[in-house]
Amino acid sequence: MDSKTPYAIAYLGNIVDLLEYADTNNIHIDLLSDQTSCHAVYDGGYCPAGITFEERTRLLAEDRETFRKLVDETLRRHYNVIKNLTSKGVYFFDYGNSFLKSIYDIGIKEISKNGRDDKGGFIFPSYVEDILGPELFDYGYGPFRWVCLSGKKEDLLKTDAAALELVNPNRRYQDRDNYMWIKDADENGLVVGTQARIFYQDAMSRTQIALKFNDMVRKGEIGPVMLGRDHHDVSGTDSPFRETSNIKDGSNIMADMATQCFAGNAARGMTMIALHNGGGVGIGKSINGGFGMVLDGSKRVDDILSQAMPWDVMGGVARRAWARNPHSIETVIEFNKNNEGTDHITLPYIVNENLIEKLVK
Ligand SMILES: NC(=O)c1ccc[n+]([C@@H]2O[C@H](COP(=O)([O-])OP(=O)(O)OC[C@H]3O[C@@H](n4cnc5c(N)ncnc54)[C@H](O)[C@@H]3O)[C@@H](O)[C@H]2O)c1
Repeated sequence: MDSKTPYAIAYLGNIVDLLEYADTNNIHIDLLSDQTSCHAVYDGGYCPAGITFEERTRLLAEDRETFRKLVDETLRRHYNVIKNLTSKGVYFFDYGNSFLKSIYDIGIKEISKNGRDDKGGFIFPSYVEDILGPELFDYGYGPFRWVCLSGKKEDLLKTDAAALELVNPNRRYQDRDNYMWIKDADENGLVVGTQARIFYQDAMSRTQIALKFNDMVRKGEIGPVMLGRDHHDVSGTDSPFRETSNIKDGSNIMADMATQCFAGNAARGMTMIALHNGGGVGIGKSINGGFGMVLDGSKRVDDILSQAMPWDVMGGVARRAWARNPHSIETVIEFNKNNEGTDHITLPYIVNENLIEKLVK
């Protein structure tokens, strides 16, 4: 393999040993992250360096204090080597596993942006700040999903075809990617049990697809369908180290957005609603508000979908707009235009500092 060929490494050993080897031998890494289970860092999610897996398992069961000490030592080495590597041009980002938070929690305050506490985020970005937020969540794209309750594959294929008809692959590159995902889903054999699909879509498209599916149920073309979504979505999760890390209107350090999302879904009549702690980043580090909605073909369900589906997404887009994330502002302007006379999201009007100064003078 020549040095220009991109490749990823599969390595059986401690990540810290590998990174220290790369550092000492000046092996360049373009893109680096971490996906150890740091959300449960002292419960076996993160393996200390220098001991075997068997020894780690024994310590975990019999000597938690030593285990904890070894985890902390490894995290410290992990941070130091990432610092060295990034100083040589490696791009590091947090994958949403609470890695940066774990480093902060062992007392390495310099990892926090303000050098004081974790409220202002960390010196390395989370992938939500850099990628998922600006490219997807700010527009309202998130993991909408459905389950064909009949259990029949033919129902899933009919829903795939119906969803595809409602997505315009030429609107944005995100739509094109999502369109290809569903187009190729059956061929790629993604279903292992339940006849279910996951599909990144925005508020408008999720609502249209949901209404279309309900109409198909009404006409007897398919059996009932259950809608839902992942917790890792636009409005449903408050997690300062992940989902809300780029909502800097204050939502990033609060836990009210998911609660509002959940309560609004309940008020609008969703079939099943849930508010819970945990999600991917760990207990105590996030609040998730989820929903399930059964499509039975009724007019009652049409009414619920028309109100609850946009609510479930636009609450988060609104927060992102209030945080002045540019794509969210564009999305809210479009939403307000399309819903004139019925729904309206307030927008931040950004002060023209020069004008104020002129007026004061
Ligand atoms: N960003 C996302 O969308 C997203 C999605 C899924 C999971 N996550 C988070 O990512 C983390 C991992 O998730 P998972 O489902 O892959 O968990 P997992 O527990 O199945 O895998 C973690 C792996 O890390 C290995 N590991 C632990 N410490 C190590 C060390 N020091 N060196 C080398 N390997 C080590 C473990 O042996 C294990 O194989 C979790 O914290 C999870 O919450 C994020």
